[in-house]
Amino acid sequence: VRVAVVIVAAGRGERAGQAGEGPKQYRMIGGKPVIRHTLEAFAGHGRVDAIAVAIHPDDTALFEAAADGLGRDMISVHGGASRQESTRLALVALAGHAPEIVLIHDGVRPFIEAGLVDRVIDGIADDAGALPVVAVSDTLKKRGDDMYVEGTVSRAGLYAAQTPQGFPFQAILDAHENARRSGLGNFTDDASIAEWAGMRVRLVEGSPDNVKLTWGRDIVLADQRLGANAM
Ligand code: C5P
Repeated sequence: VRVAVVIVAAGRGERAGQAGEGPKQYRMIGGKPVIRHTLEAFAGHGRVDAIAVAIHPDDTALFEAAADGLGRDMISVHGGASRQESTRLALVALAGHAPEIVLIHDGVRPFIEAGLVDRVIDGIADDAGALPVVAVSDTLKKRGDDMYVEGTVSRAGLYAAQTPQGFPFQAILDAHENARRSGLGNFTDDASIAEWAGMRVRLVEGSPDNVKLTWGRDIVLADQRLGANAM
């Protein structure tokens, strides 16, 4: 099976921090840029054949420095205005490599482990994608018009979606192209595009360690965690 990987890293990451700190995927954790950890996880995985990374045009030098010496060819493409569009552009760039399946991953999830990548690959079928999830552990509240509780949402059967999300390559590329043609541009993950297109998506076990670094505080905690591991 020819396995391709898309890593989306073209966001500006405004939520992560103060002006001047730069996009979060290039912030340093454990002595390396966030995205370097992500790239190493996939470049070092024996089942991965091709990797395409969506980057922001302003980050070209940062990306080249972060990807230097990985010992694997990578395709870099300029991303778009949304995560969805960045993903589509990277899928288009991979089409010439004719992968059978593709894993789509957030560049800002650096703690991805080989076993999770395997579970996603193994969970994909001819007619179904695979999605790593963790069960929701907090009790969920719905807010009313003011800051008072309107009700409690049962968490039974609810899961938080992670990446990498895996799909038959042509089916997810077609779903992306159809979503774009339909003027739908606000999907926040690829499983929701697959669901919209009528593809079945199977749940596989994610990992609580596979966090998405979204806020400035996430970067600080990730750096501390890697520092502690190194000792
Ligand atoms: O903005 P959000 O936290 O959802 O971003 C998730 C991932 O999508 C990040 O790795 C970010 O770099 C990427 N992204 C992108 N192109 C955009 C917006 C986000 O590749 N226009």
